[in-house]
Amino acid sequence: MKGIILAGGLGTRLYPLTHSISKQLLPVYDKPVIYYPLSTLMLAGIRDILVISTPRDLPMIESLLGDGGRFGLRISYRKQDAPRGISEAFIIGEDFIGGDSVCLILGDNFFYGHDLTGLLKRHGDLKKGAVVCAYHVNDPSQYGIVEVDARRRPVRIVEKPKATKSSWAVTGLYFYDNKVVGIAKSLKPSARGELEITEVNNRYLTAGELSVEYLGRGFSWLDTGSPEALITAAQFVQTIEKRQGLKIACIEEIAFKMDYINEGQFGQLAEKYGNSDYGRYLRHVLEYGTEDV
Ligand code: G1P
Repeated sequence: MKGIILAGGLGTRLYPLTHSISKQLLPVYDKPVIYYPLSTLMLAGIRDILVISTPRDLPMIESLLGDGGRFGLRISYRKQDAPRGISEAFIIGEDFIGGDSVCLILGDNFFYGHDLTGLLKRHGDLKKGAVVCAYHVNDPSQYGIVEVDARRRPVRIVEKPKATKSSWAVTGLYFYDNKVVGIAKSLKPSARGELEITEVNNRYLTAGELSVEYLGRGFSWLDTGSPEALITAAQFVQTIEKRQGLKIACIEEIAFKMDYINEGQFGQLAEKYGNSDYGRYLRHVLEYGTEDV
C-alpha cells in the first residue's frame, strides 16, 4: 500500500501564522505538525509516501524530511497548484499509486489511541473497497458526517450538514483500493469548487464497498487547523509525554522500532539532534529501549 499526505491549502484560518510558512511545519509542542500524520502512515507499515503541498511550501517540507532515506522511507513530492479538493490527491498521485491501494491522510490530522497501531495494521494491506474512520464529535456541521441505520451501518455521508442526527465525523484518514484513481478522475467540482472526498466515499458506499471503522472513546482525533486547535493539540502532547516519558509521533523512534532502520542508523539520528530534549529522548531510547505495550 502507498501513502499520501495531503499538506496543501493556504492555512488561512491560521493567518498571520501561516503567512510565510506551511501550517504543516508549525509546532505541536516539540515537533512539526507533519510528524503526526507521517507517524500514522509509518505505523500502518507504509514506507512509500507522497507528500502533496503548495508550490510555496513543498521545498520547505522537503528540506525537513528529505527523501525519507534516513527514516527507512521513500518520500516523494508533488505540488497542488491550487486548493481544488482532497480527491485531487489521487489524480496528482496517479503515477505514484500505480496499481497499488492507497492510504490518504490529511497533513493536519492527529490520531492517538491505545489500539491505533492494531487498527492501522489491519487496514494497511487492504485489497478491495474502502475504509473510512469515524469519530464522535461535538459539532457535526464542520465535517463530513456518516449517517447510519439502527445497526450503525452507513447509509450516506453528508458534507458539513446543517442538520443531522449523527455525530460521526469522517476523519482525515482513508484507505482505498486502486479504483479510487478512476473515481477521482470522474468527479465534478462541488458548489465550493472542490473535488470532494465525501463524493468518493459515497461512490464506494453505494457500491456496497465502504467500511466504517468507528474510533471509540479511547481514541483522540485532533486537528491543528486553527490557533485554538494547535494549542489544544500541543497541550495534549505535552501532558502525555511529560507523564509517560514516551514521545508521541517520534518518527525516528518508530522507524527504529518498526525495523525500518537499524541501531547504527538510529544512533546517527540521535546524535544529530544534539542537546535538545528530543535528542536526549532518542539517546535514551538507544541506550535503554522503551517498554511500551
Ligand atoms: C475535510 C472533508 C471532511 C472531513 C474533514 C476531516 O473537510 O471534506 O469530509 O470530515 O476534512 O478533517 P475540510 O477540511 O475540507 O473542511
